[in-house]
Amino acid sequence: MKFLQFSVLPFLIVILSLIGATLAHPYGDFLHCLSLRISNSSTISKVIYTQNNPSYSSVLNASIQNTRFSTPTTPKPYAIITPRKTSHVQSTIYCSKNHGFQFRIRSGGHDVEGVSYVSQVPFVILDLVNFRAVKVDAKNEVVWVQSGATTGELYYGIASKTQTLGFPAGICHTIGIGGHLSGGGFGILGRKYGLAADHIIDAKLIDAYGRILNRKFMGEDLFWAIRGGGGNTFGVVLAWKIKLVPVPPVVTVFTVNKNLEQNATKIFHRWQYIAHKLPNDLFTAVWIMKVNSSQVGKKTVQAGFRGMFLGGVDELIPLIQHEFPELGLAKENCTQMSWVQSILYFGGLPIQPVEILLNRNALPRSSLKAKTDFVKEPMPETGIEGFMNMFLEEEADFAITMIEAFGGKMDEIQENELPYPHRAGILFESTYIVQWTNEEDAGTYINWIRRLYSYMASYVSKSPREAYHNYKDLDLGTNNVNGYTSYEQASVWGLKYFKNNFKRLVQIKTMIDPMNFFRNEQSVPPLWSP
Ligand code: FDA
Repeated sequence: MKFLQFSVLPFLIVILSLIGATLAHPYGDFLHCLSLRISNSSTISKVIYTQNNPSYSSVLNASIQNTRFSTPTTPKPYAIITPRKTSHVQSTIYCSKNHGFQFRIRSGGHDVEGVSYVSQVPFVILDLVNFRAVKVDAKNEVVWVQSGATTGELYYGIASKTQTLGFPAGICHTIGIGGHLSGGGFGILGRKYGLAADHIIDAKLIDAYGRILNRKFMGEDLFWAIRGGGGNTFGVVLAWKIKLVPVPPVVTVFTVNKNLEQNATKIFHRWQYIAHKLPNDLFTAVWIMKVNSSQVGKKTVQAGFRGMFLGGVDELIPLIQHEFPELGLAKENCTQMSWVQSILYFGGLPIQPVEILLNRNALPRSSLKAKTDFVKEPMPETGIEGFMNMFLEEEADFAITMIEAFGGKMDEIQENELPYPHRAGILFESTYIVQWTNEEDAGTYINWIRRLYSYMASYVSKSPREAYHNYKDLDLGTNNVNGYTSYEQASVWGLKYFKNNFKRLVQIKTMIDPMNFFRNEQSVPPLWSP
């Protein structure tokens, strides 16, 4: 033992540290491996962007939606791989696995915690920006859409073929299909048809062994898991086959703004009892934010009541007057348009020309932090008052809470039908977002949203306090990105996102990716993982 301590041990330490150093810097080997496999030098220059490449920064920043993660101190990828063929994705998996180098998959770059393009361990990004084909088969009401397409490109593709079919996915048209469908996908057709993930009928996935799997070959367990169980967990999903849903050629949208002085609190209180019970054709939401008051120099809080009705204005007005007269909806609050234009309307954009849907940069980018809640019991008026008053605070200058009514189809789908469990009994989902412009003040704003979240604790779902995985919140807990994460540790956030489906996700992960190759801060870990 003495011998080991005084003569062999230092030697061992040197050897181990050398091995450690090599393991910590396997990038060169990874790159060499990938270049050899791609082999054609002109293709290599279009697929691999190292930090020396003049286009590196523009390729990296192209789809970063949360500018909180594009500061000089944000950890950067060693390289960005933009595959042009399926074999490039397989090669990236092969080389990264063989050389112990992690990669993150990015489709639309809208991950609110930046986990598709930031990591605390050395990494590369696999960016699917070149996988964005949208093949619409209107006759059979299906689409094959590649993961790198945006929801806007999908919506535009559908609308250019038919006015009577649509797809129930998110409001924002710059979100990537890859991350959005992997986590669920809720939007203005959600009460009528459920989630985007509810309408996936096939997929093309590359697993940790580089195999190309469709629904038949991956089996129903894995096919269940990728429809809401989170991205960067089970493999790289290259494309999805989705079933379209009927929409009328004309829909009606409306907005009625009420501020604190116009009874916003009381009207919102009433909305909670009504919105989830309205006919499935009517989706409503309330957007809470600080606005200028009619008194010069003063601020107030506004509740913007917004809606989309699958029908004409003449049918909508009497319906709202009967069910929700407190809103005082009038014809001048309403506009008739096509379903695809209603996406632009909700995104706060001009509804013409619809080609804006193809513009990935149409929405401003900002630094932000988001959190979500699901509410099962109406909040008392005093609770709403306190919540609204928090928006008068200085840190809430650029804050918004988007409150979206559930019920309808969401009530009819079993909690375990897909990994996304927030279904029957949910009155509404709240997405709290705070934004800032000066990165030095980030902490102040993040503290504000944490306070808001803590204020809401007594009014929202409990045991677990449910959260929507598509708006990741790393405050809920994280994996050890470079080491073992126990089931118990991951359950802390896993149960909030997936409730009892988390156990099945872990079992499927253990079967399909036991070595935990696909991982990020909140990916589902396998049992007994390295
Ligand atoms: P990104 O590329 O950042 O990926 C997100 C996650 O999925 C990462 O973990 C990534 O590794 C993984 N991933 C991406 N592509 C993958 C692939 N091909 N295979 C496997 N894993 C993959 N949600 C909603 O339901 N309704 C809404 O209306 C909105 N609106 C909205 C607006 C804005 C401005 C933001 C920032 C976010 C939303 N969201 C939303 C949330 C959105 O659905 C969520 O952030 C999605 O994950 C974004 O998908 P991207 O492909 O853009 O993200």
